[in-house]
Amino acid sequence: MADVEELKRKAGIEACKFVKSGMKVGLGTGSTVKHTVVELGRRMADEGLEIVGVPTSLATEKLAKEVGIKLVELSEIDGLDIVIDGADEYDPNFQLIKGGGAALLREKIVAQESSAMVVVADDRKRVETLGAFPLPIEVTPFSHEATVRALSRLLDCRVNIRMAGDGPVITDNGNMIADAHTGLKIVDPVSAEADILLIAGVVQVGLFNNMCDAVVLAGTNGVETVINPNGRL
Ligand code: A5P
Repeated sequence: MADVEELKRKAGIEACKFVKSGMKVGLGTGSTVKHTVVELGRRMADEGLEIVGVPTSLATEKLAKEVGIKLVELSEIDGLDIVIDGADEYDPNFQLIKGGGAALLREKIVAQESSAMVVVADDRKRVETLGAFPLPIEVTPFSHEATVRALSRLLDCRVNIRMAGDGPVITDNGNMIADAHTGLKIVDPVSAEADILLIAGVVQVGLFNNMCDAVVLAGTNGVETVINPNGRL
């Protein structure tokens, strides 16, 4: 059986080929892209690669500092050349579900500021229709019960506040995550994103539409880079 951790490592490292000296790089969050961050740090130390990074979570910020990547704030720069990030699912149109690690808000802000987005994944993440993975939605703690009810009505499915032990997961932004168990129902992710964002208590939804330009995908037969024909790369 394939070692999933090894697949993640291969995809994470392979994606570094998109990064050149002088680039401003968005650093995603998760167990796959952590290998990208570590490899970028190694290339800076061993090969003279010069980049600055913008992390998408406090966890990535900590890791990036540990491996020696110079970090900047989005406010200090005018956009990013590229962001490399993980995904929970991607469909044939390169639409994504993200947020399994509760970092979707910062991830989406960074992706929106980037001239290109590369996703790193193992082949379990490739789906025909989005939605088997519960859709993460960042919501305000204020009246989150009402927001969960509104989401449940809209999506016609069970929606749960994500828990960690006895309490709710609190994001880096002080919010909560509602996971919507839509099932294989998100055939029109662009409309779903727009509809969900109309609910006042929703801060952001983990549908990343028309953002992904390439997927670096690791499977048992090796690593393949799939370029979005409608993308920017
Ligand atoms: C973080 O909130 C997520 O968007 C991750 O990027 C996503 O869950 C993929 O993570 P893994 O690479 O750990 O599966």
